[in-house]
Amino acid sequence: MINVLFVCLGNICRSPMAEGIFKDLVEKEGLADQFHIDSVGTGSYHIGDPAHPGTRRVLADHGIKSTSISRQINARDVTESDYLIAMDQSNARDLNRYHRSPNGKVQLLLEFAQTSSTLDVPDPYYTGDFEGVYRLVEDGCRGLLTHIREEQGI
Ligand code: 4NP
Repeated sequence: MINVLFVCLGNICRSPMAEGIFKDLVEKEGLADQFHIDSVGTGSYHIGDPAHPGTRRVLADHGIKSTSISRQINARDVTESDYLIAMDQSNARDLNRYHRSPNGKVQLLLEFAQTSSTLDVPDPYYTGDFEGVYRLVEDGCRGLLTHIREEQGI
């Protein structure tokens, strides 16, 4: 199994959105049985909460149902993930500083985006722009899947 873990701060807005979109893309490409896909937060603020209503609504608008329940990253997540994908540079710093991610392991979702001029997915918890974030995250997820397919030869 290829283990893909998306990481943001609260695990209620951006990383559950990435999880939902990436699972949908993988299913549509017939690769679901080869992937384990999950999302977590670096913080503990929202442990046990479902995705934010804004994330659930924008996913539903695109035919995707979110089943994510917020949890905080643990040491096993770091070691067992093949792709540890942060939503912004602050998440990446926290993973390296506080969650003992090995040097070079964390990648930013928007490194894989075709159209984005920023490396950071803005946080819709503060901006309210869930649809704009959806477009960025979808762009990143498409690029990430292409990258993984090339790297893994699938
Ligand atoms: P997320 O957004 O990291 O995209 O899930 C946030 C959600 C909640 C908080 C911060 C960011 N918070 O501080 O409660």
